[in-house]
Amino acid sequence: MEVAVREISPREAAADLLVIGVFKGAGLPDDLSGSPGADDFQDAYRKTTILHPEGHGRVLTVGLGEQDEFNAERARVVAAVAAAQAARVEAGSVAWVLPETEHDDAIAAGLTEGTILASWRFERYRKPDEDEPTPQIEKLTLIASESLSVATDVARIAAEAQNRARELQQLPSNVATPSFLAERAAEIVSTHEKVSFEVLDREQISDKGMGGLTAVSQGSTEEPKLIVLRYAGGGSPIGLVGKGVTFDTGGISIKPAQSMQEMKMDMSGAAAVMEAIAAIAELDLPLELIGVIPATENMPSGNAIKPGDVITQYNGKTVEVNNTDAEGRLILADALAYCVELGAERVVDLATLTGAVVIALGSTYAGLMSNDDEWAGEVAEAAERSGELAWRLPLHPDYKELTKGTIADLTNAASKRKAMTIYAASFLEEFVDGRPWVHLDIAGTAWDTDRQYVGKGPSGFGVRLLVSLAQDLSKT
Ligand code: BES
Ligand code: MN
Ligand code: ZN
Repeated sequence: MEVAVREISPREAAADLLVIGVFKGAGLPDDLSGSPGADDFQDAYRKTTILHPEGHGRVLTVGLGEQDEFNAERARVVAAVAAAQAARVEAGSVAWVLPETEHDDAIAAGLTEGTILASWRFERYRKPDEDEPTPQIEKLTLIASESLSVATDVARIAAEAQNRARELQQLPSNVATPSFLAERAAEIVSTHEKVSFEVLDREQISDKGMGGLTAVSQGSTEEPKLIVLRYAGGGSPIGLVGKGVTFDTGGISIKPAQSMQEMKMDMSGAAAVMEAIAAIAELDLPLELIGVIPATENMPSGNAIKPGDVITQYNGKTVEVNNTDAEGRLILADALAYCVELGAERVVDLATLTGAVVIALGSTYAGLMSNDDEWAGEVAEAAERSGELAWRLPLHPDYKELTKGTIADLTNAASKRKAMTIYAASFLEEFVDGRPWVHLDIAGTAWDTDRQYVGKGPSGFGVRLLVSLAQDLSKT
């Protein structure tokens, strides 16, 4: 989508649909109050009215809500509301007008993101029904000070990357295999000069002693991949690790059939990390990144890992695999240890790791766990700024106690269902060699969040958060 910020009159924008945001109680602008349709005007948050002022095509009003409650998140929401109306009237171009007071970077970014995210569709495998409104906004113009265009450029790049992550999430597991993810990584490398990569195949993964990724992948005929994407923008390297389970059946500890199809999204962390790196490269931000993506299926078979089996992780620690459905932590353990070995000084991992985080925080907040208050604070602030929220859960030696194995150093699943989200984080902490590390459990926020601008299905959670973090780190 083309996005422009122009200091022009609404008339000059010559858009198929002119959108006017109106605060609650502010009333219609004078020049519209007599127009056909004005009698239906409603000013409540998210309410829309279509007006047909003389010689001016179509005008859509959208309620922004109370002025003192308006923020970037509400901007994303109202932009999505407007995009839905634009689709209904088949508008190819949209121009947005905000009240004088609301011309700041975060709001302009929110409108851009909301429009781009809400316009995303996944139509690879079916034709849309005839009566289904199909978005076709090709051009978005914000009528505002042109100084906002720096913010809208970043917002556009991040939102487009988020849509690419959503595509990867939505693709079925027979298409989005570990090899497919590796091909996408290769594409990112070929479009961005400062990005390079390395991909390990099954044999190399096993030869290197990555016992977790070896064990989880051994039940599948689909070749696993350990993908390393490096972005060379300079400075001390930040590690980004994303869980890339392209389908999680649970393995021998098999999941119930109910909703198992959703487990194609168990690579959402991988999708977010890869597309965030692509966005950061597009923005040419001055920082150094090491992305590590362990990608595999988790399948039952005659070759599969069995409950009780003992494996040795990349850093030498041994693990009793008491539940083959707790596979994410096994592959992340190797990836985190490898990422640290490659030189990452601080690490963030994103993983659809536990069902428990969905119960605790729903789709509103990702779970954030960390061994370092300062790093946790920086990531939490990036989350807040991006609108991809994260709530910190505690770590404590008591939880660590639960992760101890009977015949090995660790076990991947305790018999008691205590604090399962924190348990998983305590397990991961064993593999970061004391480096500042943040774990984001995105099992609840990656799918079916029902936010207006992403709705049901894939949300691409994490891309905007990581871009925002990278921007922040680029300043210091
Ligand atoms: N991929 C799942 C977690 C998940 C659940 C993601 C719901 C998205 C939505 C993970 O591999 C898993 O199976 N976790 C188990 C761990 C348990 C067996 C210790 C869980 O949380 O139930
Ligand atoms: Mn699992
Ligand atoms: Zn999983």
